[in-house]
Amino acid sequence: MGQSPFLIIAIDGGAASGKSSSSRILADRFNLLHVDTGSFYRHITAELLRRGVLHTDLPALQHALGALRFSTRLEGRSARMLIDGQPAGDEIRGEHINAHVSHYAAIPEVRHALLGYQRGQVDVARAQGFRGLVMEGRDIGSVIFPDATLRFFLHADPAERAKRRAAEGRQDSIATRDQLDSSRKTAPLHCPPGAIDIDSTHLTLDQVVEKMSALIQGKLS
Ligand code: CDP
Ligand code: CDP
Repeated sequence: MGQSPFLIIAIDGGAASGKSSSSRILADRFNLLHVDTGSFYRHITAELLRRGVLHTDLPALQHALGALRFSTRLEGRSARMLIDGQPAGDEIRGEHINAHVSHYAAIPEVRHALLGYQRGQVDVARAQGFRGLVMEGRDIGSVIFPDATLRFFLHADPAERAKRRAAEGRQDSIATRDQLDSSRKTAPLHCPPGAIDIDSTHLTLDQVVEKMSALIQGKLS
């Protein structure tokens, strides 16, 4: 029997399309490191706002980004990003960050600052004995890991996604973020050629995960 391959599973999609929910289940099922890159963009946005650095002030942004130090803390199977040794607070899921994050994420310098760190999660996963990683975001299959073992793109009707987020009791500007994320010049949200497009509008989370699992299992056997 040959050694099973190190798995890199990329999951992209719009807000509330089911990326985090499916990634967490897959991480448990296949012993993968779970990497939520949206939380990285949220954390960096919160940190820049805390320092009073506007996304429109490029020199200040470059200066601040150059000084940030990223590291990783493992929480269960999830990679938590620390900035200068500090984890993000719960406020990164709140309305204030929802309203700002896509503006910061559209700046090439911000994306560049996170690029090497995101790719470096492969080393974290290997060092911690995981069989691979599942990374979710907007540009994982297109920019971060275009050669991933499997690249999924989750679609769902915007009204259905808004309903899902509301059911979680969270206020979210889904449509505005999707519009900003899809229209930016650098690493826009789109389904890259060759990725597996799953429309989950009429599927349960279990059905989505079963589809993904069957394809992952196929890569292992
Ligand atoms: O959970 P939800 O899908 O609503 O958002 P998220 O994954 O936490 O991502 C928050 C924001 O970060 C997105 O709206 C994007 O602006 C940005 N993001 C990105 O640009 N690229 C990624 N790989 C991940 C997130
Ligand atoms: O990470 P992302 O913003 O893409 O979505 P999420 O945080 O996983 O949230 C999606 C919400 O919709 C969760 O409450 C899921 O249980 C629910 N859901 C889903 O993810 N997929 C379905 N096919 C149906 C519901």
